[in-house]
Amino acid sequence: MKRYQDIAGDGGSNIVAQVAEQAGRVKSRMAAVRRIIAVMSGKGGVGKSSVTVNLAAALALEGAAVGILDADINGPSIAKMAGVRGRPLLQGDNGVVPPAAALGIKVMSMDLFLPDDQTPVLWQAPGQKDAYTWRGMMEAAALREFLADTEWGALDFLFIDLPPGSDKLPNLADLLPRLDGVVAVSIPSGVSRLVVARSITVAVELLNAPLIGLVENMAAYVCAHCGREEEMFPPARQENTAEELKAPLLGKIPFDPRIARAGDEGRLFLNDHAHTPAGRAIRQIAGKVKAFL
Ligand SMILES: Nc1ncnc2c1ncn2[C@@H]1O[C@H](COP(=O)(O)OP(=O)(O)OP(=O)(O)O)[C@@H](O)[C@H]1O
Ligand SMILES: [Mg+2]
Repeated sequence: MKRYQDIAGDGGSNIVAQVAEQAGRVKSRMAAVRRIIAVMSGKGGVGKSSVTVNLAAALALEGAAVGILDADINGPSIAKMAGVRGRPLLQGDNGVVPPAAALGIKVMSMDLFLPDDQTPVLWQAPGQKDAYTWRGMMEAAALREFLADTEWGALDFLFIDLPPGSDKLPNLADLLPRLDGVVAVSIPSGVSRLVVARSITVAVELLNAPLIGLVENMAAYVCAHCGREEEMFPPARQENTAEELKAPLLGKIPFDPRIARAGDEGRLFLNDHAHTPAGRAIRQIAGKVKAFL
């Protein structure tokens, strides 16, 4: 088998023109989207995807047309959290029709292309030597297709749920004609703060987009029996997390098992619990994001 660097020129694929044509399609699709917001964190498991779905729901509840692009190609979770897993993908006149979750939230995710629960996303590289570059290229290509070939239609907000870490940020920066703002997510632990601080610096530089602010997730635990709030993590040192991260604090979302349950069941937490402490926090954060934009 030839490796791709063994192939002279583009091997007759006219790849440069193909990519340029796709980039043109991304640009015209995104022209119908008023605001594009990326949700990121250097740290895994801090609630990026949950925050994405809940902010999208908060804005959709106010009547906005909202979409979510799951940019976590290898660990997609938005389709499940939004309750559109397993929905068939239909080909429309102008691209693939994204399934609509509750409140009309349009979702595109790698998960919608996987046949069953056990099938992982595997990029078969032509050889081990090229594997790293190859996988990066394939992931970028998948993202570009999601942006270019999805019938997003006219949207007020398109949220992009990023995978953990900062190594995929250059991909996104290359693919998007513009990004209107970045929301960072952290949890109030020293370890998370350290990793997130670094990733915020990288994100602001690479994405060339303003940092809207920081969401502190799992900030406290509300006892289901007595309603008392307890801290989930050891009390922070003197400094305030957001100050330390040089990011405006958008708000703190308490740990609420109903958020996890809603995500597991593919229901929108805000549809049932908009008036709980977590529901109020999410709606306030969404309001700040909207005001910023
Ligand atoms: N405030 C919260 N209260 C209760 N559970 C939460 C809260 N935020 C997130 N969770 C739960 O924590 C788990 C991890 O959240 P989530 O998948 O959103 O994190 P993530 O940062 O997107 O993870 P990854 O890095 O893998 O993409 C999920 O089961 C989610 O339901
Ligand atoms: Mg996630």
